[in-house]
Amino acid sequence: MSNLPRHVAIIMDGNGRWAQQQEQPRVKGHEKGAEVVRDIMTFASRHDEIRSLTLYAFSTENWKRPKAEVEFLMKLLSRYLKKEQHVYLENNVRFHAIGDLSRFSASLQKLIRQTEEKTAHCTGLHHHLALNYGAKDEILRAVKTLQEDGLELTEEALNSALDAPEPVDLLIRTGGDQRLSNFLLWQAAYAELFFTRTLWPDFTPRELQSIIDRFKSVERRFGGL
Ligand code: FPP
Repeated sequence: MSNLPRHVAIIMDGNGRWAQQQEQPRVKGHEKGAEVVRDIMTFASRHDEIRSLTLYAFSTENWKRPKAEVEFLMKLLSRYLKKEQHVYLENNVRFHAIGDLSRFSASLQKLIRQTEEKTAHCTGLHHHLALNYGAKDEILRAVKTLQEDGLELTEEALNSALDAPEPVDLLIRTGGDQRLSNFLLWQAAYAELFFTRTLWPDFTPRELQSIIDRFKSVERRFGGL
């Protein structure tokens, strides 16, 4: 039986370089990138085999970027959530945020929670957006929760205390670099990794399907023979 891409996770990289190529300010790449988020999410929601799609939108390290770029990304996220809520509902997509949301403004946190609540009844794709997310931070927070609740630290308990408990089957990074950048380190323990030079604003559902086709032909042994 071939592999199924039940949980697909993507490191969306290359927005800045895409904008540079077009001789545009970096933020134009993020704007185009947000359109691609919508297209890939819609494609995944209609895909027979994908159940979860996790996208890395803002890392715990991204606060180090220039203030104007961070502010632009916050506004873009807020605009995106307001504008795309109907796309989630039309495609039966359940939205979840993962990461430490406490660093965002009160209004952005409220909008994120509202989007989760409004889509809570949706039974199709689970769409996780990683926001102020870092895998080390996620694991530390999970361990602290277990300690505070006086629970034994087992693999199962830690797994369920994470923001995103499902294992990743297929992890893709766009933009040409070959690293994980603190993304889903626990959940991707046995993920197949695919790296493409395509910059995120140029990534298409067609390329995603071609990566899935290659993924399906890989033999996954999970440490066995
Ligand atoms: C990496 O490109 C991308 C990010 C840090 C942010 C990802 C954001 C988006 C795809 C758009 C916003 C998303 C939503 C959901 C509204 P980079 O800036 O590091 O590119 P570079 O490596 O070419 O500089």
